Amino acid sequence: MAVDVKKTEAPKGKESPAYTFVPVCRSEELAEGEVRQLKARGKQIAVGRLVGGQLFAVGGRCSHMFTRLGKGKLRGTLLECPWHGAQFDVTDGCVAKWVQRPWWLKLTYDAALPAFMKRAIPTYAVREENGEVLVAVD
Ligand code: FES
Repeated sequence: MAVDVKKTEAPKGKESPAYTFVPVCRSEELAEGEVRQLKARGKQIAVGRLVGGQLFAVGGRCSHMFTRLGKGKLRGTLLECPWHGAQFDVTDGCVAKWVQRPWWLKLTYDAALPAFMKRAIPTYAVREENGEVLVAVD
């Protein structure tokens, strides 16, 4: 199901100081299939590398109860929250699965939570330069 996503990509063709790319780690610190919790301009972000080498950067806090998503597991393009198992697609920040555990919490949410409350996470532009990973945050 599509959920509203707040995109934070740098405007194309513009050098806006509000979207400056900032270095967050060395390229070799992110192996394929790995995700890390990092900080950029004071914001918690989860930065990782998909199998195949593509980098991604998303908001570092789960939209359910704000757990660190950088401590979660990558399953293809889905990033699973380490606490209750919600899954977010790192390509667009959308919710793929909402809370999965414990079973009674999943049942409660499935029965009572309106879809619009299953909030997406922000996505950020990311690139590699001179052996460093850079993320654009406002
Ligand atoms: S805190 Fe992430 S699913 Fe609950």
